[in-house]
Amino acid sequence: MIPRDTIAQILETARIEDVVNEFVTLKKRGSNLIGVCPFHKEKTPSFNVNPARNIFKCFGCGKAGDSVRFIMEHEHYSYPEALRYLAKKYGIKIEEREQTPEEMAAQNERERMFNINSFAQKYFSETMLNTDEGRSVGLAYFRERGFRDAIINRFQLGYCPNSGNAFTEFATKNGYDKDLLIKVGLTGSYENRLYDRYQGRVIFPIHNLTGKVIGFGGRILTSEKTKAKYVNSPESEIYNKSQTLYGIFFARNEISRLDNCILVEGYADVLSMHQAGIENVVASSGTSLTTEQIRMISRYTKNVTMLYDGDAAGIHAALRGTNMVLEEGMNVRIVVLPPEHDPDSFVQQNPIEYVTKYLADNAKDFISFKTNLLLKDAKNDPIKKASVIKDIVETISVIPDPIYRATYIKECSRTLEVAEQTLMNELNKILRAKYRKQLGLDPGQDTSYLSYQSYQSYSQQQPVEEPQNPSIPIGFYQEQELVKLLLTHGSETLDLEGKDDDGNDIVYTTTIASLIVDDLKNDGLLFRDPTHKKVFDAFDRGLDTGILPTTQEFISSEDDDVARLAADLLSTQYRLDDWRRHRIVVKTENDVLKKTVLMSILRFKDMVIEDRRTALVKELQSCSDPDDQLILLKKKKHLDDIRNRINRDLGIVITK
Ligand code: CTP
Ligand code: MN
Repeated sequence: MIPRDTIAQILETARIEDVVNEFVTLKKRGSNLIGVCPFHKEKTPSFNVNPARNIFKCFGCGKAGDSVRFIMEHEHYSYPEALRYLAKKYGIKIEEREQTPEEMAAQNERERMFNINSFAQKYFSETMLNTDEGRSVGLAYFRERGFRDAIINRFQLGYCPNSGNAFTEFATKNGYDKDLLIKVGLTGSYENRLYDRYQGRVIFPIHNLTGKVIGFGGRILTSEKTKAKYVNSPESEIYNKSQTLYGIFFARNEISRLDNCILVEGYADVLSMHQAGIENVVASSGTSLTTEQIRMISRYTKNVTMLYDGDAAGIHAALRGTNMVLEEGMNVRIVVLPPEHDPDSFVQQNPIEYVTKYLADNAKDFISFKTNLLLKDAKNDPIKKASVIKDIVETISVIPDPIYRATYIKECSRTLEVAEQTLMNELNKILRAKYRKQLGLDPGQDTSYLSYQSYQSYSQQQPVEEPQNPSIPIGFYQEQELVKLLLTHGSETLDLEGKDDDGNDIVYTTTIASLIVDDLKNDGLLFRDPTHKKVFDAFDRGLDTGILPTTQEFISSEDDDVARLAADLLSTQYRLDDWRRHRIVVKTENDVLKKTVLMSILRFKDMVIEDRRTALVKELQSCSDPDDQLILLKKKKHLDDIRNRINRDLGIVITK
């Protein structure tokens, strides 16, 4: 449990631009900062950070909130996890009281999985550094492979003893739940007996972007062919292999600083590169890259350099899966290492100056690399050459940016010795076919009516996002307008003219919250949208107690919907255009505010009345009983009167 005042302190200290900046590259735009949204796929930045209000909002996908919300969304953390993250970042000490067994049980499962992993990581490191077996087997292995203490400590490497269930026993003795131990893959169970899945292996902890251990890779030390070389964590709520890059936590600052990400295959490759001082390196851990991994990189840089072993398999691997990276609009370079080397051995066996020079000299743009490679194979065989041309143009066709496509066509026309126009025609044929497929047209169907422009630019089109709420309920916007006024100006006061009990003109002062809340309550009107209602109720309670809620309280509300709504509404400014449309001369700020509040209340009431009136009219149309009709007509007359009065009041407010 985090004490309330500590929560407040965290919320006050955390700067949104600071927090976001760790994950998103931000650029200044006016008084705000913008960047590419980490929550949805986009090419032009629509992710907005407002330092003055201390909130973020993406105008593309609609996500919005404060620092806590950002960390929750981004790291998939619970509320307390996010608070702890921020507290750590800003050096705020959390004095937590001991948890009761009930609280322990209720604690979020994900958090407990993180805890188990952190516990295990410490155990594996301790075991390796401070036990005889650990030192003579685990540590000796890493030393033999040339890893020095600094890198071993930084990456928190470890060793799991080779004794059946030593770790599992230690963990359960310390109160860790055996089902969760199994779930995160530290423990296995066979015929009701628990055993350590990593026994006798050296341990590579896998960290997420914020440095938490989300999984492990355990390497075998012998060359027994009957056992797997690596035992890895299974997929779980906290570990998703396709969304993870080994080393990203240690590499991300350098990736961003150098505007380039070097991609290798294995754990050992990452460690050796980092040890040599090349720190913008991550590993895909042996599988081909996924879109999620590419997107993770693309938050820091658009440039990827892939390092491949110099053998035939390595070169082959370079060709596979690369189209996907190009498709994401990344610039891909390939470095093929000398034969017999992988990044690990290459960097360990050569002086660093040689390595950096080699990387710089041998980084080839992927398309030129592929073209030259295939061309060498085809030699002077015209049939083979034709298929090379097709293959290359196919690759060029996945690049989203038409300018890059054109540039590559030009270059390849030179290397392939084929007329530029021929390649362009081939490219257009492919794009047209893709466009047809995308439209769901039969491939043979005549599409000559499709304009050249449209199919040429098809690949830039983003998938159209479904509106989040396709059927906006009646009155939603009027409610929202009032909620926004409450959030932004609720505790401010206004002077209103009115009459006292004796009918004398008086001026009285009231808060905007009271004006809105009391007025609606007097008329028995309620907000329909549940989140709007929560805000309304909070002010209602505040008016009772005399302490109105603050904007900050809503933004940092533990209620997801309320927090999101607050951030959302506070991110958009009032548009004075509305007033100009109504031909209103804006005199003073207070004047505008007063009119805004009064008009918003009236518009809301008008909508409610209109809605009821529509329902009545419908009822009247289907009603055949004369007595009932009369009652309905009377009701309608009543509503009409109110409506006229509202219209008159609106007129007064507008022209006054
Ligand atoms: N890998 C795996 N399971 C295996 C083999 C490989 O998960 N059975 C993954 C690991 O993430 C590994 C990467 O693929 O790091 C690359 O494989 P490999 O080159 O065989 O391993 P290295 O880590 O380079 O190991 P070493 O250099 O110690 O042989
Ligand atoms: Mn290796």
